[in-house]
Amino acid sequence: MTTPVVQIVDAAAYAQAVEDAVKAAAAYYAGGTSTPDDDAYDRLVRGITAWEADHPDQVLPDSPTGKVAGGAAEGDVPHTVAMLSLDNVFSPEQFAAWTASLARRIGHETERFSVEPKLDGLAIAARYTQGRLTRLITRGDGIAGEDVSHAIGTIEGLPDELAEPVTVEVRGEVLMTTAQFEHANAVRTAHGGQPFATPRNAAAGTLRAKDRLYTVPMTFFGYGLLPLADTEPVLAARLGELAHSDLMALAGELGVNTTASTAVPGITATTTEGVLARVREIAALRAELPFGIDGIVIKADLAADQQAAGSGSRAPRWAIAYKLPAVEKITRLLEVEWNVGRTGIIAPRGVLEPVEIDGSTITYATLHNPADITRRDLRLGDHVMVHRAGDVIPRIGAPVAHLRTGAEQPIEFPQVCPRCGSGIDTSEERWRCEQGRNCHLVASLSYAAGRDQLDIEGLGTTRVIQLVEAGLVTDLADLFALTRDQLLSLERMAETSSDNLLAALAQAKTQPLSRVLCALGVRGTGRSMSRRIARHFATMDNIRAADADALQEVEGIGAEKAPSIVAELAEITPLIDKLAAAGVNMTEPGATPPSAVADNGTVTVPAAGPLTGMTVVVTGAMTGPLEQLSRNQMNELIERAGGRSSSSVSKKTTLVVAGDNAGSKRAKAEDLGIRLATPDEFAALVADYLT
Ligand code: IVH
Repeated sequence: MTTPVVQIVDAAAYAQAVEDAVKAAAAYYAGGTSTPDDDAYDRLVRGITAWEADHPDQVLPDSPTGKVAGGAAEGDVPHTVAMLSLDNVFSPEQFAAWTASLARRIGHETERFSVEPKLDGLAIAARYTQGRLTRLITRGDGIAGEDVSHAIGTIEGLPDELAEPVTVEVRGEVLMTTAQFEHANAVRTAHGGQPFATPRNAAAGTLRAKDRLYTVPMTFFGYGLLPLADTEPVLAARLGELAHSDLMALAGELGVNTTASTAVPGITATTTEGVLARVREIAALRAELPFGIDGIVIKADLAADQQAAGSGSRAPRWAIAYKLPAVEKITRLLEVEWNVGRTGIIAPRGVLEPVEIDGSTITYATLHNPADITRRDLRLGDHVMVHRAGDVIPRIGAPVAHLRTGAEQPIEFPQVCPRCGSGIDTSEERWRCEQGRNCHLVASLSYAAGRDQLDIEGLGTTRVIQLVEAGLVTDLADLFALTRDQLLSLERMAETSSDNLLAALAQAKTQPLSRVLCALGVRGTGRSMSRRIARHFATMDNIRAADADALQEVEGIGAEKAPSIVAELAEITPLIDKLAAAGVNMTEPGATPPSAVADNGTVTVPAAGPLTGMTVVVTGAMTGPLEQLSRNQMNELIERAGGRSSSSVSKKTTLVVAGDNAGSKRAKAEDLGIRLATPDEFAALVADYLT
């Protein structure tokens, strides 16, 4: 897949693009948290390259194409040999073109390639003097880099002492594994800092930070081994002659970590097909790797081929990066949802403008906690960096401040637990529902008692919290075992309210199966699905006897939903038994089980009603005999009378019941020429089914 380049139309646009790229590269190397994503940067640079090819006399000195990105600062340490960058390819065709140009340059096909992951971190040169690690230098502008020797001892895979007392420079990538990144962010936020947006930002920031109160580990992978001025001449000569794969083996023997220790070790291949097969293998393993990679590096393996190919000012001609799609993208934060976990932790989750990252569409990403949102000054509508690595839940980085329009809105924090309505314990950074683990119970009981489920009047959330806190109720069935004395023992429960609640509970036991099923809160069985299931199977026993195939006979239940419903129902078998034992109704009035083949061979088909075969939409306020019915009860009525209820008008709709103040649905029905009925006309049509 090739991403389109940024089109540059004139010299002014070119100058602007160069400026943007320079700024982006500077932010990137400074470990900034609001840099453009890799794809955007690549598109920009390719746009610049294309324009420069047509205007070679107008190339600006700052252009990212002419020099190694970064930029040396005063006092930097010169590199013995320039630390170059790599050119990129994005497709098998581009890779084939590169191998062809390499072959032309060296006068023959490349004998052997080495293929290894392109580690997503920062390049570093580690100097060993007689086996001891003496200096660490960043790439800087490729000619000279920053001395970061203070980080010695914090980088796994880069030993303080080599297995042999040799004087060499090891080059490679410093990065944070996913676990190291999580750890670094935990430590950093515990010290009041802002979490790093990405493992690479985290490695860059950590590597350069000098006087931290804490240290966080990083990991090194070597990809180069070269002599220093003081290297013993025999060794220096040998290093110049060894193939890349042999150098990597030697680095390993000396005790330096290389990709050989990973699930994607460097290999050699003698054909383009072999290289591409390995590219596919590495790409397929990317999501499972414990560290980030952003491509695959392919090098001419033999020293002679490398020498014959030579290097440009920016990149060697004997190596190329086969880039994989970026794992970071910028998108907009649309909303923040607050979800309550099993232990009562209330965690914010960002709803994003969908963005494709590495083949998956991302719509949600983790936000850490309210304090973190405040620290980062995130707002709704902000452009944010989203990072997705492997199977880890995508996370939101910093807002991209310069993309703000002023229309961004503050993120509102919940005042009460969004699940059960109790107070929130905000004493720690991670907010928690005051009900803790009981929160789920409070929420599920409140839901079960709701108007569209068991409709238990007098059992609002506050009452549920009281019952749970008093230890009187530990599951739904316990409600039906409550005694008058128990209720009277509760605060603010007088005789009348206790009796009323007991009467409401007795009434709730007679609710149809569809509502009992809905009250159980099985995932994927909301109000209308519960009705469909109950009408299809008629009894709870039939539902429980159904396997995934049988469940799929219910309209709207597919191959994915069916097994999960079966499994969840099996899980709550004891609860269902307890409810049945408490006298809760487990049948659906008027429904007949599917193809109930009687002993005598006759098949019972569901009774037809006045709405059989019809899809009915209700809109506006109901009047007359239907006045008291909630929308859910209207839908129940439609289905009892043999019809299908729907909430939106389409060509499939057969009848629209339009009450007072019916608006757009009525208008749409008129447009489509769909039959309309007043509430009274409809009541007459289904009179036999009104209970
Ligand atoms: S070879 C002269 N091998 O990618 C050859 N680089 O985009 C240059 N990188 O600066 C380096 N993994 O920081 C090489 N296996 C690998 C690499 C690798 C990551 C980085 C390196 C380089 C950048 C170029």
